[in-house]
Amino acid sequence: MVNVPKIEEAVERLRYLLEKEGLPRPREAVVLGSGLGEALPELERWLEIPVAEISGWPCRALPGHPGTVVLGTAGERGLFIQRGRLHYYQGLEMEEVVFPVRVMAGLGAKRILLCNAAGALNPAFEKGFLMLVRDHVNLMGVNPLRGVTDSSGNPAFLDVSDLYDQEIGDYLVGLGQARGWPLVEGVLVAVSGPSYETGAELRFFRLIGGDAVSMSLVPEALMARFCGLRVTGVSVITNTWDLRRPLPVSHEQVLRAAEQAVPALKELINAWWLRD
Ligand code: HPA
Repeated sequence: MVNVPKIEEAVERLRYLLEKEGLPRPREAVVLGSGLGEALPELERWLEIPVAEISGWPCRALPGHPGTVVLGTAGERGLFIQRGRLHYYQGLEMEEVVFPVRVMAGLGAKRILLCNAAGALNPAFEKGFLMLVRDHVNLMGVNPLRGVTDSSGNPAFLDVSDLYDQEIGDYLVGLGQARGWPLVEGVLVAVSGPSYETGAELRFFRLIGGDAVSMSLVPEALMARFCGLRVTGVSVITNTWDLRRPLPVSHEQVLRAAEQAVPALKELINAWWLRD
């Protein structure tokens, strides 16, 4: 378990910077994953900080992940944006992967929007679709809450019956229909990676109810909910597959496809953030 002083140190540093710049504390937080770092909502003022300058923040360079934090505002509202996420497949411990979420919670965030790139399992899904995560199957083989205790010292037996906030999800689906977003809903299967899936794995994941597969998002969703945040997840579909065999896929291809989905995602993030 990442020791609490390290999290507190990072929170303190960010609090100091917010006060120095006269920026409000963020009530909302967004995580922008692979190729999605440009999906920044419209901000009136902002401060961008390289994560290397935040004490305790695990640093790992990865193509398509800028590695900065943006503290932004619109009016009185404050927003925390993590541009570039940390992944288990990079060799990080789970507690490092979810470190940013604990910092966001420490700063007072109440809602989080987790965005990532994912491969389609549902044959009706096309590249560029945004999938609202309604539920997940965690096949990563690890859980970020292992070893974590609640305030009474008990294991973090988290109720996940409403992990992905239904009300916010319904709101986004309604808005998406009205505005013509390429928004679909589904179940995300999470794997540890970094290898992509074999054909047999893809067929298995589809069989157990998966609509898309990714190597991220689920750990942060679990930790954020444990910290009391309302969670929303959106997966950008970057690659599709053929029911009979996997199609070749590469990180570069995932990044390119994710970048093309940035305008639609940006609209969704704006709407999510400015909702009361
Ligand atoms: N599999 C796992 N993770 C991914 C994929 C995929 O096909 N595409 C983007 N992230």
